[in-house]
Amino acid sequence: MADHAPQPPARPTGSPPEVEVDPRVLDGIIVKEFGGRKENLIMILQSIQKEYGYLPEKALRHTAERLEVPTSHIYSVGTFYSTFSFVPKGRHVVTVCLGTACHVRGAQRVLDGLSKRLDIAPGETTADMRFSLETVRCVGCCSLGPVVRIGQDTHGRVGVDGLTRLVDQYE
Ligand code: FES
Repeated sequence: MADHAPQPPARPTGSPPEVEVDPRVLDGIIVKEFGGRKENLIMILQSIQKEYGYLPEKALRHTAERLEVPTSHIYSVGTFYSTFSFVPKGRHVVTVCLGTACHVRGAQRVLDGLSKRLDIAPGETTADMRFSLETVRCVGCCSLGPVVRIGQDTHGRVGVDGLTRLVDQYE
C-alpha cells in the first residue's frame, strides 16, 4: 500500500549526519522489550531515542516493518510529541527559557549571547556535536529567571557576562 504522508520533518541545513543503526539493537527494543506490540509504540520510540539520542530515520522504518504499521503512522506519533527529535542532538542540550518571567529579565539577550558564543541558531547543533541550543516556555522556576538548563542542570539568574564560563563547564 502506498505510504505517502506524513513524512519526517525537514532536516535543518547543516544537520549532523544520520547515525548507523543496528537492527539487532532495535529488535531488542521492539520485540524483546515491548513484545512487538503496536500499542507500545510510544515507549518503543522513547527507548530508541534513549539509545541513539534521537529518532534515526532507518530506525523508524525498521520499527514500522516490525510492527506492521505504515511509516506515516510512526511519524505522526513522533511529531505529535515535542520530546521526540528527528535530528541528532549534541552531548549537552542547552535550553533557554523564554517564558514571560524570564523574558522580562532578559532571556532574549541570554539566548542571543549563547547563540553567538556557540555559533548556532536555536534548533541547531554545533559541528563538534558538543551542544544543541533550544528554547522552552517556562520550566517552572520563574523566580530564578532568566533560567538556562544544560542537560539536567538548571542555572538561574543567568547573565550575559557569564555565558562563556557557563558553557565551558561542559565538555
Ligand atoms: S518563565 Fe522561565 S522558568 Fe518560568
